[in-house]
Amino acid sequence: MGHSIHIAPSILSADFARLADEVSAVERAGADLLHVDVMDGHFVPNLTVGPPIVESLKKVTRLPLDVHLMITNADAFIPEFAEAGADYLTVHVEACPHLHRTVQSIRERGVKAGVTLNPATPLSLLHEILEDVDLLLIMSVNPGFGGQTFIPSVLKKIAEARILLDKINSRALLEVDGGVKVDNAREIVAAGATALVSGSAIFSQHDYTATIAAMRAAAETAVQPAARATVNR
Ligand code: DX5
Ligand code: ZN
Repeated sequence: MGHSIHIAPSILSADFARLADEVSAVERAGADLLHVDVMDGHFVPNLTVGPPIVESLKKVTRLPLDVHLMITNADAFIPEFAEAGADYLTVHVEACPHLHRTVQSIRERGVKAGVTLNPATPLSLLHEILEDVDLLLIMSVNPGFGGQTFIPSVLKKIAEARILLDKINSRALLEVDGGVKVDNAREIVAAGATALVSGSAIFSQHDYTATIAAMRAAAETAVQPAARATVNR
């Protein structure tokens, strides 16, 4: 048995004027998590939303809020995002020089801690923190915008991450973010991912239920590394 796949629609591509409706729609359509992209115009060249939106979202959905902080001073904002109702808080290693302290500060507040890295950042920067995280996010585009193309060389990084997590028996989600579509879900999961963030590929479609179902079906056709290991035993 492999891991079950979590599908996390990113609201970045939703219609912000109808945000509550969009969120209910993906919830009804079978989403497992709701991915919220926080951008500050410094760490990434774009601006999005902050703690008040997270607080509002918390009131209109039962989906766990998977909050991705693309901000320079993540440490300063952890208390506010925790208070606002984030279920997962994911920080970038490039923005957190004292990553262990940052992860502790997230967990102390009863929030699940995630860490992530840009496509050009080596996975080795996260080796020492993997035992302490609930989620490892691999960026498959340079963060800042929805609708970009999946960078194929990231598949190798996902596979390396799978090996590292399995080695320590980690149950952390291995999430992939950027350019994820129905068409590439299978190879991403085959590399070892257990959670797929998808913005434009879901919100550009009229039928969210059909799109999420197709993505899940594609993902489930992949033979996951853990399942392969079991078969070989
Ligand atoms: C990119 C964000 C992503 C983005 C993904 O900076 O972190 O979560 O919304 O969008 P798509 O799925 O359109 O690549
Ligand atoms: Zn994201």
